[in-house]
Amino acid sequence: MEREKKIPCEANALRAMLAISRIYRARNMAKVLLTTGSVFGAALLTADEIETALHDASHEVIRPDPQSADALSDESVDYLVVCTSTTGSGDVPDDLLTLYTGLRTEYPRITHLQYLVVALGDSSYDHFCGGGVTMDEALADLGATQIKPPLKLDALEVTEPEEIAPDWVVNAIAEHQASG
Ligand SMILES: Cc1cc2nc3c(=O)[nH]c(=O)nc-3n(C[C@H](O)[C@H](O)[C@H](O)COP(=O)(O)O)c2cc1C
Repeated sequence: MEREKKIPCEANALRAMLAISRIYRARNMAKVLLTTGSVFGAALLTADEIETALHDASHEVIRPDPQSADALSDESVDYLVVCTSTTGSGDVPDDLLTLYTGLRTEYPRITHLQYLVVALGDSSYDHFCGGGVTMDEALADLGATQIKPPLKLDALEVTEPEEIAPDWVVNAIAEHQASG
């Protein structure tokens, strides 16, 4: 008798699990690693808004702490988003430097990663968006897949990058998922 009651219960649980997994697949949820490089906070604010937009689109977002190259080796991550400004003379900001140096010296295995770069800069400088460009090159050199060329936001033209970047990231991921 006990066994008869148990079987329908397990079947219901199985049905529920299958329904949940169908919802996940239908919504194309992705696991997104979001890293930032910022000196004065504009790229950080932009990354915060990107995170909110990704959550609203039902993606899972991880912001690694500390930001190191190790974090990129997690093979369960689908997409990497780098949101960085530029400092010095086309340089990566200090808070992203450990991760960048790790890419160039430790050569982590990141061929599973598909990535996007949001680059904040100012075209009055010689190396426009150099921080983002540098990160883009380092990721490509290690075999990660760029799903769209970097979004370059010029402080001379765009005063609120946090208004533009979130939609660009969410749409780029949606387009990439639809194409696959
Ligand atoms: C000292 C300094 C150096 C900069 N160097 C560059 C540069 O080489 N290339 C560039 O495109 N922008 C450069 N910028 C502009 C910043 O990247 C841009 O203002 C950005 O929006 C700042 O973002 P943040 O607040 O996240 O640091 C520089 C800004 C400062 C203050």
